[in-house]
Amino acid sequence: MNFGKNILCIGAGYVGGPTMAVIAMKCPEYKITVVDTNEDRIKAWNSNHLPIFEPRLEEIVGQTRGVNLFFSTDIKNSIKEAEIIFVSVNTPTKTFGYGAGMASDLQYWEKTAYQIIENSEDPKIIVEKSTLPVKKAQAMERILKESKNHLHFEVISNPEFLAEGSAIRDLIEPDRVLIGSHQTESGLKAAIEIVDIYAHWVPREKIITTNLWSSELSKLVANAFLAQRISSINSVSALCEKTEADVSEIAYAVGTDSRIGSKFLNASLGFGGSCFKKDILNLVYIARNYGLTEVADYWEMVIKINEYQQERFVRNIIKAMFNTVVDKKIAIFGFAFKANTGDTRESPGKYVAKKLLEERAILSITDSQALDNARLDLAGMDGNVIYETDPFKAAIDASAIVVVTEWEIFKYLDYERIFEKMKKPAFIFDGRNILNHQQLFKIGFNVYPIGKPSLTHF
Ligand code: UDX
Ligand code: UDX
Repeated sequence: MNFGKNILCIGAGYVGGPTMAVIAMKCPEYKITVVDTNEDRIKAWNSNHLPIFEPRLEEIVGQTRGVNLFFSTDIKNSIKEAEIIFVSVNTPTKTFGYGAGMASDLQYWEKTAYQIIENSEDPKIIVEKSTLPVKKAQAMERILKESKNHLHFEVISNPEFLAEGSAIRDLIEPDRVLIGSHQTESGLKAAIEIVDIYAHWVPREKIITTNLWSSELSKLVANAFLAQRISSINSVSALCEKTEADVSEIAYAVGTDSRIGSKFLNASLGFGGSCFKKDILNLVYIARNYGLTEVADYWEMVIKINEYQQERFVRNIIKAMFNTVVDKKIAIFGFAFKANTGDTRESPGKYVAKKLLEERAILSITDSQALDNARLDLAGMDGNVIYETDPFKAAIDASAIVVVTEWEIFKYLDYERIFEKMKKPAFIFDGRNILNHQQLFKIGFNVYPIGKPSLTHF
């Protein structure tokens, strides 16, 4: 078959996989190849058991794989053949050396840039999908300029705004697609090539083109703003617990102001996920590097409040359970950093579990998607952990239920039956405010929501 554009994506992760599957579905005339250094990951993409869980992903991969979507480990040849290369390798927070715990670890991106120049025989468009610190494109260009046959690589920034669990929907119906390029003739021409891809299904007015640096920074700022909203409402939740105000009522009252908006105001035990913390730390690091101390401090508080909220949640559990959880069985409902994903990166559930284990509790963790990751996350410290797929069984003989992920299924369990099987007094700590607190209280539970008065029988 003769394909139109030949597109390669390096990095078959949470971002690369779903993004390319949707491009393949929407652009049947293009050939899309996804490569990864991790052979097991590619094997999984080529199997019936995809390496990540996303609603509708299986269906779309099923339709396109082997037709115009290919998963491969042949990085060299794939680079040679591609006209457009998306790079979505991971850029975690640095764990060593200068900037440890703050800056992005760009070693994978850099290795990828070298792979590209070593294996290219003609000019290509390189698209940054991974979130990179501002002005990183410049460094990449400097590496890419070193190609042995003096090829020109035009670097485009096209940040992703996918939220896990709704990645496919976010790709099919995005609020916007952002494409940043140099404002030169070749930069603008390359940007049009990328606009062409998305224009197959995204209305043109939703495709925003900017200069390269605005695009890179917009991604960090978008995530910082989203996280800031959660930290804002979470800081208010602490105040609510002292004043008997109700954080949900406040979120509703405040969110109906159209200038503020109602989304992302759910108080919780804290935000998680691979992006928020990493991107804010990045923003903070960049601001500090430019000597903008106040700016850096301002954004850093978003993370501090998030840490405070998680800590506060665990402290409240221990305090409510008469200041000791030693040898008490506690059922942890959820483990993923949010519902509809198996991802546990930076999950507040992980923090809660580790802290309770340090306090010598016995945990039974139940999560329909994240138990494999939970096992990896708690490896070496899970002597007192039971992994259980059935929430009902997880709660048998437990003194408390701690909701850490907002899975729908937790809302509709038979809590009367669960209560009967639990140790008394029985506690529920609802870290997501998803349960019917009054009803649980009537059943006999002592109920501790976030940012609302607790309902206790003492
Ligand atoms: C990544 C980035 O972390 C994030 O900053 C960006 O916004 C989107 O892309 P994600 O897809 O969630 O996020 O990362 P991950 O699921 O870890 O996937 C990255 C993949 O790249 C992994 O499968 C890894 O094996 C692969 N990789 C890494 C390479 O193929 N080559 C490398 O040199 C390094
Ligand atoms: C986020 C951004 O939304 C996405 O645009 C970006 O590309 C990647 O980072 P993601 O991390 O997948 O996506 O999930 P998101 O839905 O943003 O949730 C992040 C965390 O905030 C989760 O732990 C979630 O439970 C929490 N959250 C979200 C709240 O605690 N309260 C809210 O109101 C919303």
